[in-house]
Order: sequence, then structure tokens, then C-alpha cells
Amino acid sequence: DDPEKLTTFQARIDSGEKIEPKDWMPEGYRKTLIRQIGQHAHSEIVGQLPEGNWITRAPTLERKAILLAKVQDEAGHGLYLYGAAETLGVSRDELTEMLLDGRMKYSSIFNYPTLTWADMGAVGLLVDGAAIMNQVPLQRTSYGPYSRAMIRICKEESFHQRQGYHIMMKMAQGTTAQKKMAQDALNRFWYPSLMMFGPSDKDSVHSAQSMAWKIKMNTNDELRQKFVDQTVPQAEFLGLTVPDKTLRWNEDKGGYDFAEPDWSEFFDVIKGNGPCNTERLAARNKAWDDGAWVRDGLMAHAAKKRAAKLA
Ligand code: 3HC
Repeated sequence: DDPEKLTTFQARIDSGEKIEPKDWMPEGYRKTLIRQIGQHAHSEIVGQLPEGNWITRAPTLERKAILLAKVQDEAGHGLYLYGAAETLGVSRDELTEMLLDGRMKYSSIFNYPTLTWADMGAVGLLVDGAAIMNQVPLQRTSYGPYSRAMIRICKEESFHQRQGYHIMMKMAQGTTAQKKMAQDALNRFWYPSLMMFGPSDKDSVHSAQSMAWKIKMNTNDELRQKFVDQTVPQAEFLGLTVPDKTLRWNEDKGGYDFAEPDWSEFFDVIKGNGPCNTERLAARNKAWDDGAWVRDGLMAHAAKKRAAKLA
């Protein structure tokens, strides 16, 4: 890239200007955005599977309607994000293909199974809680379309987290069996939720450059710490125990000291060896194949309408 242009570009970033699709940008900036926004979008789409598993099994009609609304929101979040990625010159089909053949990732958290109804509470409380922690700062990201997508998405995320918190409260304050289920869900989702923020800063290959370009507003460890500090009091209020014996409040730091997740498990999961990776990608591949006739029909219909207009 032309050094002159690079300097001007970095000055724009540093002054907090938004970069828009038609502006000049370094190839690395474009590539990093396609990677991050594309994987963010994939996460929204794949993230519907663990929760979709419980729509037909929800304990009441009201819970079914709430879960249905949330899963539908996630599809919309995926749409906003694929739309933002397309402004960078990559098509949604290309991004989908790279998800389906494993060249692109989605959030590690969605490779864990949702075994009981209480998991719908833990996912809302922890996974959407973590997503809010990560997405709120991204509203100020330097790339215009991504920032605007984040603003819209964040408006819906708090409902996602609240409904999860409410499920956990209902069960934690319910029968002994219900409280046990809520505790079991917290035990299984705690460490995978910490992994959502990415590897520790010393192992984060992209953070430095992504922060210089304001594609990332905080480091992985900073957001993880904020998440723990916010979530531990919520678990305590629910009368549940965070599955970390080393957890303790550190007055000097003004935050909790806590045990790190098992990073070898994390790298294993993002390599494709998590509990549900095969199942998730198989589900997405099947949906893509089963939907081919719909895409073909729409394209044929559009071509017919175009031809009619020309005739
Ligand atoms: N799952 C899968 N891959 C992950 C990951 C995770 N939790 N955390 C990190 N990685 C990958 C990175 O993608 C990168 O691999 P790549 O080069 O092949 O892309 C590698 O691990 C190194 O990690 P870095 O920290 O260096 O990478 P990033 O700077 O990209 O940071 C991130 C990772 C914090 C996830 C960042 O990409 C980000 O903030 N993305 C936007 C937010 C996002 O995608 N959130 C995912 C959840 S969305 C969601 O939860 C939906 C909600 O509605 C439930």
C-alpha cells in the first residue's frame, strides 16, 4: 500500500472518523473486516441451532414464543452482518461456502450441546451476556456498515440476555430438581463462555493490528474480565455457584481473580474437534442443499420478471 495513503487513512481512524465502503482502505483492513464480520455473521446463523433444538420442547407456550422470537432475531443479526460484509466486495454465497467447507469459523460456544431446558437460560444469561460485552464496544468500530449493524443488533441483545436470566431465576428459585438443572447448565456453559472472548492477549494474533484500526475496541482479556465481574454477582443472586474454586474478589484490581478456561480445549474446538462441530456443519450443509430449489426458483422468477420488463 502507498505510504502516503496509509498515513492519511490511519489519521482518519485515530480521529474517530467512520470509513465507508467507497473510501480507500488498506487491503489488510478490508481482509480483517471480511474475516471478522463474516465469522460474526456465521456465529449468528450457527448460533440458532443449539436454541432451535428447544423450540418444540419449551415448557410453556409463552417460553416457546420468546425462544422463537430470539432465534428469529439471530437470523436477522446474521443478515445485517452479511450485508455489512458484502459492502467489502465479498458475496454472501462466497461467505456461506467458506463456512460450509470449514475455511471460515463461527464462535466456539456453538459447538457445545444444549442438553436440558435450563441450557436455554444459561445460553441467554452467559452467551448473550458475553455477546453484549463484546458487541457494545463494537458499535464504535471504525467501519461504518459494521458499526451501524452493531447498533441495531445491540438493541435486541438485552432482551436475549434478560429472557435467559429470567429462565435461570425461575429454575434456581423452583424445585430442587429445577435448581439442580440450572446449576448443571451453569457448570457446563461457564468456561466455554469465557472462551468466547478469544485466546488470552498473549496468544491473540490479531488484536494489536485490529485495535490500531479500531476493528477491535478492547483486548480479549479486558472483555473477559468485565464479563466475569458482571456475571458472578448475577449467579450469586440466583443462589448458584460459579464452577471455579479459585474465584475471589481482588480489591486492588477492583475485579475478580478467576481460573482461565482450558485453552487446549479451545484450540481443539476451533480446529473442528468440539462436541458438536460435525453436527453443526452437517446441519448447515443440509439446510444449504435442501434450500437450493428455493434459491433456483427465486432466481428463475427474477429472470422472468427482468425479461418481461425488457420485452
Ligand atoms: N470462536 C471461534 N474462533 C475464535 C474465537 C471464538 N470464540 N476467538 C478467537 N477465535 C479465532 C479468531 O477468529 C482467530 O482465528 P482466524 O484468524 O482464523 O480468524 C484466532 O482465533 C485468533 O484469535 P484473535 O483474538 O487473534 O482473533 P480476533 O482478533 O478476531 O478476536 C474475536 C476474536 C474476539 C471473536 C473477534 O473476532 C470479535 O470480536 N468478533 C466479533 C464478535 C463475534 O464474532 N462474536 C462471536 C459471538 S456472536 C454471538 O455470540 C451471537 C449472539 O447473538 C449469541
